[in-house]
Amino acid sequence: MNEKSGIYKVKDLSLSKAGAMRIEWAESRMPVLMALREQYRRSKPLKGFRIAGCLHVTKETAVLVKTFVEAGADVSWSGCNPLSTQDDVAAALAADGTSIYAWHGMNVNDFYWCIDETLKFKPNLTLDDGADLIFTVHNKHQELIPEIIGGTEETTTGVHRLRAMAKAGALKYPVVAVNDAETKWDFDNVYGTGQSTLDGILRATSVLLAGKNIVVAGFGHCGRGVALRAKGLGANVIVTEVKPTAALKATLEGFRVMAMDDAAKIGDVFITATGVKDVIIDRHFRVMKDGAIVCNTGHYDCEVNLKHLESMKKRVREVRADNEEYTLKDGRKIFVLAKGRLVNLAAAEGHPSEVMDMSFANQFMSQLRLAELHRKGQKLENKVYDIPPEQDQEIAALKLKTMGYRIDSLTREQVKYQSDFSAGT
Ligand SMILES: NC(=O)c1ccc[n+]([C@@H]2O[C@H](COP(=O)([O-])OP(=O)(O)OC[C@H]3O[C@@H](n4cnc5c(N)ncnc54)[C@H](O)[C@@H]3O)[C@@H](O)[C@H]2O)c1
Repeated sequence: MNEKSGIYKVKDLSLSKAGAMRIEWAESRMPVLMALREQYRRSKPLKGFRIAGCLHVTKETAVLVKTFVEAGADVSWSGCNPLSTQDDVAAALAADGTSIYAWHGMNVNDFYWCIDETLKFKPNLTLDDGADLIFTVHNKHQELIPEIIGGTEETTTGVHRLRAMAKAGALKYPVVAVNDAETKWDFDNVYGTGQSTLDGILRATSVLLAGKNIVVAGFGHCGRGVALRAKGLGANVIVTEVKPTAALKATLEGFRVMAMDDAAKIGDVFITATGVKDVIIDRHFRVMKDGAIVCNTGHYDCEVNLKHLESMKKRVREVRADNEEYTLKDGRKIFVLAKGRLVNLAAAEGHPSEVMDMSFANQFMSQLRLAELHRKGQKLENKVYDIPPEQDQEIAALKLKTMGYRIDSLTREQVKYQSDFSAGT
């Protein structure tokens, strides 16, 4: 472990060269964020702002961090999941002088220690993925709240937590729900999670997915992406849901829909993507086939109840990286990937850079907007805000341009037609 008190703690600083190469690769695939970096490099609109971030330390996150720094911000960072930090990337950021506290494989106490360290730097903006940083501020460091202008939140589970806090009157500063932006939720969660979840499963198992019964729990944004990509690889996809409209959409997409109690008996690979706990529990493990593979791609490791599996096991051993074989008392084997944590980040590299380009452009613009409103003396209420709709269109237009696509625009007559309620047959 390498440590510089008050600045960083990372696994191995000597990995920094490899990390820098990975970051460079991501930069070459994130044209929208890089255009924003170029736009604000000279004017430094974030000068004087201190951002504490708690978000998976991946090569794409490093591009975001470096963009904040180029725009003038002081940054202090921690990872938002004990298994998602890429140690070489963390080392590269530390070597660059960024304050960062993150390493792969930390325990839960270390996890909160890292958050506490980033808070010592007294942020006036926060950036979350899962709301653990904001929750820590509210729960343990209320003395920091008067200085904090606002925050941003990256993921569905974090937005749920924050909306619950706001509803209970417990949220003490405004937060922007970056997750709910169209250019985030409909792309990152769908195509990013779709591809990277299968990437994680393949790296941890190397099994053939074609012909397998793949059970996807949850047909929301992430689940739909995973189901579509698994179908593309030739799997027989089964969807489980609790929301009738989502289940209906899955059936009309051509997926089989059934209750987990039924799916548990026939699934070869199980993937949870719900954001809800106890989706797979003891009674499901009891009927699973010998050799079944179980993993999760939702934010927390509570979707697959591993305590239940632990209580049923005779022994457990790691058979490959991120792949543990549980031998049950009746002799069946069940394989659990990445300890039930986000399989795409723990066993693979998380979402591809191209899709994080839009998510992190939203993060950057939302932090910038909070800073600008503050500078203008405009105070927001202590609630969860959506991003402005024009931000979505601006990011999508930039993305299309960088991809080389040209689209049509409405003519003046078409705009008039849209607002003419008397036009009919
Ligand atoms: N792995 C990643 O990199 C990644 C990326 C983005 C989001 N996430 C996380 O993935 C989770 C899902 O996010 P989302 O954007 O798809 O949310 P979403 O709200 O769009 O979809 C969740 C779906 O799960 C369903 N569901 C809830 N409980 C269920 C249960 N017990 N059984 C079956 N279905 C159930 C809901 O009805 C809903 O349709 C969240 O925890 C989110 O934070 C992970």
